[in-house]
This record gives sequence, structure tokens and C-alpha cells, in this order.
Amino acid sequence: MEHQHKLFPLLLLLLFQVLIVASQTDSGDFTALSSLIQSWKNKPLNWVGSDPCGSDWDGIRCANSRIIELKLPGLNLEGELSSAIQSLSELDTLDLSYNAGMTGTIPKEIGNLKNLNSLALVNCGFSGPIPDSIGSLKKLTFLALNSNKFNGNIPRTLGNLAILDWLDLDDNQLEGSIPVSDGQGQPGLDMLLKAQHFHLGNNKLSGPIPLTLFNSSMILEHVLFDHNQLTGSIPSSLSLLSKVEVVRFDKNRLSGRVPNSLNNLEKLSEIYLSHNELNGSLPDFTGMTRLTYVDLSDNNFNSSDIPSWVYASSLPDLTTVILKDNQLSGTLNLSSGYRRSLQLIDLQNNAITDLEMGNQKLNFDLRLGQNKICLENGVSNEVYCKAPQVIPSYSTPTNNCPTPSCSNNQIASPNCKCAFPYIGNLSSRAFSFSNYSNTSYYAEIEQSLMSTFRKENIPVDSVSLSNPIKVTSTDNFQLTLNVFPSQADRFNTTGVSTAAFVLSNQIYTPPAFFSPYIFIGLSYSYYGGEPKGSKSSNTGAIIGAVVGILVFLVLAILIGLYIIRKKRTRSSELNPFVNWEQNKNSGAAPQLKGARWFSFDEMRKYTNNFAEANTIGSGGYGQVYQGALPTGELVAIKRAGKESMQGAVEFKTEIELLSRVHHKNLVSLVGFCYEKGEQMLVYEYVPNGTLMDSLTGKSGIWMDWIRRLKVTLGAARGLTYLHELADPPIIHRDIKSSNILLDNHLVAKVADFGLSKLLVDSDRGHVTTQVKGTMGYLDPEYYMTQQLTEKSDVYSFGVLMLELATSRKPIEQGKYIVREVMRVMDTSKDLYNLHSVLDQSILKGTRPKGLERYVELALRCVKEYAADRPSMAEVAKEIESIIELVGVNPNSESTSTTETYEEAGAGNGKHPYVNDGEFEYSGMFPTIRVDPQ
Ligand SMILES: *[C@@H]1O[C@H](CO)[C@@H](O)[C@H](O)[C@H]1NC(C)=O
Ligand SMILES: *[C@@H]1O[C@H](CO)[C@@H](O)[C@H](O)[C@H]1NC(C)=O
Ligand SMILES: *[C@@H]1O[C@H](CO)[C@@H](O)[C@H](O)[C@H]1NC(C)=O
Ligand SMILES: *[C@@H]1O[C@H](CO)[C@@H](O)[C@H](O)[C@H]1NC(C)=O
Ligand SMILES: *[C@@H]1O[C@H](CO)[C@@H](O)[C@H](O)[C@H]1NC(C)=O
Ligand SMILES: *[C@@H]1O[C@H](CO)[C@@H](O)[C@H](O)[C@H]1NC(C)=O
Repeated sequence: MEHQHKLFPLLLLLLFQVLIVASQTDSGDFTALSSLIQSWKNKPLNWVGSDPCGSDWDGIRCANSRIIELKLPGLNLEGELSSAIQSLSELDTLDLSYNAGMTGTIPKEIGNLKNLNSLALVNCGFSGPIPDSIGSLKKLTFLALNSNKFNGNIPRTLGNLAILDWLDLDDNQLEGSIPVSDGQGQPGLDMLLKAQHFHLGNNKLSGPIPLTLFNSSMILEHVLFDHNQLTGSIPSSLSLLSKVEVVRFDKNRLSGRVPNSLNNLEKLSEIYLSHNELNGSLPDFTGMTRLTYVDLSDNNFNSSDIPSWVYASSLPDLTTVILKDNQLSGTLNLSSGYRRSLQLIDLQNNAITDLEMGNQKLNFDLRLGQNKICLENGVSNEVYCKAPQVIPSYSTPTNNCPTPSCSNNQIASPNCKCAFPYIGNLSSRAFSFSNYSNTSYYAEIEQSLMSTFRKENIPVDSVSLSNPIKVTSTDNFQLTLNVFPSQADRFNTTGVSTAAFVLSNQIYTPPAFFSPYIFIGLSYSYYGGEPKGSKSSNTGAIIGAVVGILVFLVLAILIGLYIIRKKRTRSSELNPFVNWEQNKNSGAAPQLKGARWFSFDEMRKYTNNFAEANTIGSGGYGQVYQGALPTGELVAIKRAGKESMQGAVEFKTEIELLSRVHHKNLVSLVGFCYEKGEQMLVYEYVPNGTLMDSLTGKSGIWMDWIRRLKVTLGAARGLTYLHELADPPIIHRDIKSSNILLDNHLVAKVADFGLSKLLVDSDRGHVTTQVKGTMGYLDPEYYMTQQLTEKSDVYSFGVLMLELATSRKPIEQGKYIVREVMRVMDTSKDLYNLHSVLDQSILKGTRPKGLERYVELALRCVKEYAADRPSMAEVAKEIESIIELVGVNPNSESTSTTETYEEAGAGNGKHPYVNDGEFEYSGMFPTIRVDPQ
């Protein structure tokens, strides 16, 4: 006997493993991923089931059953990066950029991702120190942690990333000095001989720039240390970087002279040394033959006379020289000519006394304001003494098409289509031009973006740039970038994350004059497209499924046997209702259909010890938690507070009733917990929130006309079931948009039904009760007579339909939706003259077919006399026929075309149950009470 007890669980475990192997995802990876994403919010719609690899979860890619890519930028995700990440040991790419709601620290366990090649966490909410363990990611080539709130030092272990190409720690709160190796085993950034990018700007780094940081073995192209607190002089070793193109040391506390050796940097194109304490005469840059942009402003340079490299033709590409706020004196002598490429020389606020022009005409922008020369009479009116230029506005022009007027946050694309673009700020960290009115630069950026999106196969219709500005805090040149979708009016999850990935991972290479760039994207929340679900037609999946089912059957039999055996030996261990019997005066154990009993310890485990992070709703009744069962199934657990606890008999009545109600359009009860003085109800988790959240835009799920029709039909079918097929029938009594939940496929599920008062003394027709309900949805006849029938639900349903057509609350600014619709309605006019009250977003594009019939039906539901209103079955039938008229199969989202209502179980009386819930907008599950009879 004892041996068998030990053998059975072992067998089960083995079989479970067989079952999981039948899926295309490695079981360890699935477990790690489930744990990683367990408390994340706003996950992609198609993250359902237990086979991310086999069912192509958005943003996840696999190879040989192992997860190798998590590409999730721009998805509005919220959560933390937990240590569970370490088990995804084949991970090559991890990108969570542009999810401002991703917070917390980077776990040190990240160091175990030995195969990680690219790590991008750009513009999230991460904080705390960067763990030393990042230095163990030996295969890393791309590391972008910019625009977070990381603090502490730059870990010197980064020096161990021997093949790192891109290091971006910009825009954080890092402090301390830049680490270099000490020759005694301590690593430092000087060891990064494969790095082309050191982007460490906009932090709080201090101390001198170490002389040994740079040497001739390095291939650095971009050295960006701007906006820190670095001191000391510019290290002469900078001149050893023969490949360097951009140097930004601006906005630090560097002092002394600029080393003469910098003149060797033949590839240098942009050099920013402004806002330091540099002194001596202006350096000689005549050797930097590729120079385009020089900013030496706000230092203590004190040359007498301006050296000729500033304007003469020896540097053919130089467009811009900014020397303002120094102590330059003497004459600016342009009389022997100046180079054609010149766009701007800014010498404001110096001590220049003279300008020699000879026969030249000024055809570049010269700024001499606040110099002695501009204080002289007769000169101060010259253009070059006036205030500096402003950047002219720009916006990508349309492609020879008329601009449509778009509604509801949509924006017209350059191809004149209204859509929800993916939006962000695209900034050049070293823009090499100053002639901002020359729009050919913008056009070149637009073309290069489009060609990258095309090459990467991303469904982009067009891009537009607008709002050029020079950002004062960073000196970056910034444009607003809108990326428009090609197929529909919005991107789906894959569209957004792939487009964002191109920018977060620097796959897009801009024209040299814009390089290097950063992109900071907004989160995108207008996903469209139907989730693919886990339907998969490939043979692997089918074989997997068949094997799975077989194994499952064997498993089920074994579990049955096991339970029977266990029961015989220690009957209490698995009997869910032993605890019931131990509570005195609770009557017999409840008769449940399909619902499970859970122990308190299980509940605690599944909700992470009722963690704050798992809370999804709360109210007078207590709290609702999200939990995950060991199977991966997500549940919503309603835990009653002390005050809203019911007696055992009432609780039993409630779970018996709920467990009998099974319908696709009703939120179903998974189980309950009644132990240790706690009462909890475990419901299926409905991921997409309430219909009210969708209509008010809170959940970011956009409802087009067809979706609205389908939601109406789903809710009507759920109610029809309660009225006509549940036994005994149930009157909901609180139909409203916050009681309709939407699942993964946006199928409507009615919540908060059946909490109930058993009315034995009434006939089938109506019952007399104390009036309950929600203002705006309340049947006036019921209100006056206190006689409750199913038709009261029909009334509320009519109000709900008007809410769906108008996206207005039933009572808004003192106006009652029913009266408003009746007031403007005129059946002789187009769309019954309802344009002014309808939701404008369903009016644009194709005409909302069947809308007139829909509103007529809604108005029949809200007839004054109950007898004049249709039954819910009639309402459902009429909506079906409207949907057919639109040309859509009303059952297209269900697996079978014929709706099968499961017959409700025990009880043969026909007494209607009446919802006696409390009415509060309190999250997903309102209070449930049962009054004893
Ligand atoms: C540059 O520095 C690295 C690391 O300190 C060292 O390995 C390399 O030999 C140095 N190269 C030269 C030319 O000094
Ligand atoms: C330049 O700055 C350095 C350091 O601040 C200082 O020691 C030196 O005297 C200054 N030289 C001149 C010419 O002002
Ligand atoms: C610049 O300043 C230094 C120190 O104050 C001085 O010795 C030098 O003559 C100045 N040069 C010019 C051109 O004014
Ligand atoms: C300006 O340059 C011209 C040509 O090189 C020269 O003839 C003239 O003397 C210069 N003027 C001054 C004030 O240095
Ligand atoms: C883009 O830049 C503008 C102006 O600096 C700023 O107001 C806005 O918040 C930025 N947007 C993002 C997504 O960073
Ligand atoms: C997302 O959109 C792309 C292109 O528009 C399409 O190929 C893909 O099937 C869509 N994905 C889903 C899950 O709908």
C-alpha cells in the first residue's frame, strides 16, 4: 500500500512530462516564461495556451523548441524583469524597450544568459544599479540601457564584454568615474577593443577622463560623454582613435587647453566641446579634413583674431562653427573669401571689434551679436547683429492627395489615410547641419526610414516627420516621427514590436549627417487584428495534439484510480468537503457541477501570497486577485473581506448556483475555497477588462461596428441562457457595461449574475423585491411597481445597446441616453438623423450597416411597458439577423456554428433566482450575497 502511494505520483509526473514534450516548447522554457510574465500587464492577445513556440506567440521566436528571442518593444507592457529570465538559457535577443511600465531592477541572474547577443531596455522605468553580472554575457554585442533610472557606478566588469560593439548607458543617473583596467586583473572600458560606440552622456559621471581609456587598438567611432560632471583636461590619447567620427564632451567641467594632437583625427566629423572651462587660444583643426560641425561655445578661449580654418576653404565640408560665449577678440577677416559649404558661424558674446568683408556678400548665417562691433553706431542694424535664427517648422508633405479630416486620435498619413501611427521622438545626437530650412535633409531621412522598413518586411505605409527642434537639455536635434501602418488603420502587436525593434536595436542606419540617433517611442495601445489563437495546421501540432489526448486519457484514468485509492486509505485527504462538515451548522456539503475545491494554502500559493502586484480589483466586498494555477490557467480569485462574509448556508447556495451555470457568454466559476475562516470564489480570468473600459478608451481596445454587434450578440445569448435555460431561471438585475467582460477573442462574458435571493413564494411570472439596480439602466416599471420580471433585464439591455452605439454613459451631464436618442431620431432621414449622438469612430470609413435596425431594437427594449418589450431570445435573434445583413457569420468566433446551451443541472422547481448584488464599480467582480430563506 505505502509503496503504491509513492509510485503513483512519480508515474503522474512522468506522464506530465510526456504531455509537455508533445508541445513544441521546451518545458523548462515554458515554465520560466510563465513565471517571468505572470504578473505582467497588457500582454499580447495571442499569449494563450502552453506552447509559445508552437502557436507563434507575438514577439517570441524559438529554435529547436528553445526560446531565442523576446522582441517586445513598444507594447505598453507593465511589470518587472524577474530572475526567472535566467532559465531562458538559449536567449539571443531580449528587447523590452519603450515600455515605460517595465520597472524594478535588473536581476543579477541575467548573467546566466550565456548566449545573449543583444540586450535593449531603452526608455523603460528600470532603476537601481546595473549588476556586475552583465559582464558575464560574453556573447553580447549590443547593450542599450539608455533612458532609464539606473544609478550607482558603471560596472567595470563591462570590460569583459570582449566583442561588444554598442554600449549605450546614456540618460541615467550613473555616477563615479569611468572605469579603466588597472593592469592587475581589474577590468575596464579600455578593454572594449571591438566597441564602436561609447554613449555615456546625460549621467552624473565625475572625475577625469582616464588617459588610458583610449589607445590605438580601439575602433571607436562615437564617443559621447556629454552632460556629465567630468573634470580635468581632454586626454591627448583621444587622438589615438583613428576611426572616431563624433566626439561629444560638451556640458562637463573640462579645463585647460585642447591638445594639439587632436588635429590628427582625419575622420572626425562632429566635435562638441561647449560648456566647459577650456582655455588658451582656439585649437588648430586644419588637419581634420572631414570636419562638418564644431561647437566650442561657452568656454574661455581667448584668441586674438579668428583662425582661418573657421571660414577658409581648406575644410571643404565644414558647415557650422559655434564659438559664442568665449573671449575671442580682434577681427573676423572674410575679405579673401570663405568656403561655399558654410552655413553658420556663431560668434555671439565675444569681444570681436571688426568685420572685414572685402567685396564678399554674406550668404551664410553670421552671428556677431553682443560683440563690440555691434555696439557701434550704424552697424547694430545689420542682420548679423540680430537675434539668432529659429528653426522653421516642418511637416512631411502629402503625396499629392487631399488631406482627410480624421477623428478619434487618428492622424492622416502622407498618403492621406487616417490611421493610428506608431509615434516617437527621433533625435540626432550630432546633426551636422545648420540650414534647417533645407527640407532635403528631412526627405532623405524619410526615404532611408522607408527603405529600412521595406527591407525588414514591416507593414509600414509611410512615415512622416514634424516639429524639428533643438532640445535645450541635450543639444540633440529632434523630430517627431509617425510611422503609419499599411494594411489596416492600426498595427497589430507584431507590427508595432518589429517596427520599434528596428529603431531600438539600431537596425535603421540614418544618413551620416543624422548619425548617431536615438529613438524614444510612445507605447502603442491600438492593437487591431484578430488574435491567431493557438490554432495551428502543421502536422507537428496535430501529432502533438493526438499524442497529447492519448496521454491525457491515460492520465485521467490513472488520476481516477489514484483518487479512489487515496480515498479508501485516508478519506479526509482529498475530500474537498471535509472542512465543510467541520464547520458546524453548515448543512451538507455543496452539490457542485464542475467547480473545484481549493485549500487556503493553494490560494496563497497561486496568488503569490496575495501579493499587492496580483490585485486586479477591490471594493467593499474585499479584494480580487489574479492567480495562476499550476496548469498555467489564469484565474480571478475573489476573497471576501471580513464584513462581507456570508453564512455557510448562503455561501453554499451561491457556489451551487454558480457552478451550475455554464455558457460561453457567462463568466464561469472554476472553484471555491472555504477554509481557515475565508471565503473565496475562483473564476475564470477574463483578460480584456470590461466593456465599459473599452467604450471609454481606458483599456485601449478599440471596438469597430462589427465587434460591437458581436459583443451585443454574445451578451444577449448569455442573458437568454440565464432567463430561459438555467434551472431555476435567473434574473440578472444589474446588466451594465461594467458587468460585461471581454475575453482574449473579445467574446462578451456576462459577470455578476445569480447572486441571488431564492424566491419560493412567487409564481413564474414575476417576483416582488426591494428595488435594486444601477441608475441609468433601471427599468422604470420595475421601479414603480417593484414587480421584477426578465423584462427588467431587457430594459437594461436596451440601454446597454444605446451605450454601444453612442459610447456615452447612460446618464452624462444630466442627459439620459434613451431620451437623447429619441429626441434626435427621425426615421425619414439618413441614418435616422442620429449622426450627432452616435460614436463618431463607427461613422467613418464604411457605413455601419444595420445601425438603424439596431437602434430600433434598442428602443423596443426600453419601451415603457414590460409587455411591449421583446424577450432576450427575440433580441438575440434580431441581432443575429443584423449581423448576417452586415455580411458576417454571427458565429464566426465560436468553434461550432450551432450554439449548444448546456442544460443546467439539479432542481426542478421553476423559481427564478434574483440577483441581489451590491452595485459598485469595483473592478471585475461585484459583491455577491445570498439571503437565506
Ligand atoms: C590598448 O588597451 C588594451 C586594454 O588595456 C590593451 O589590451 C591593448 O594592448 C592596448 N593597445 C595598445 C596599442 O596599447
Ligand atoms: C587654463 O585653465 C587651467 C586650468 O583651469 C589653468 O591652470 C590655467 O592657468 C588657465 N590658463 C589660462 C591661460 O588662463
Ligand atoms: C589669453 O589669456 C592668457 C592668460 O590670461 C594671456 O596670457 C594671453 O595673453 C591671452 N591671449 C590673448 C590673445 O588675449
Ligand atoms: C584681411 O585679409 C586681407 C587678405 O588676406 C588682407 O589684405 C587684409 O590686410 C586683412 N585685414 C586685416 C584687418 O587683417
Ligand atoms: C518628445 O519630445 C517632446 C518635446 O521635447 C516631449 O514633450 C515628449 O514627451 C517627447 N515624447 C517622448 C515619447 O519622449
Ligand atoms: C499582423 O499583421 C501582419 C501584417 O499586417 C500580418 O501578416 C500578421 O498575420 C498579423 N498578425 C496577427 C497575429 O494578426
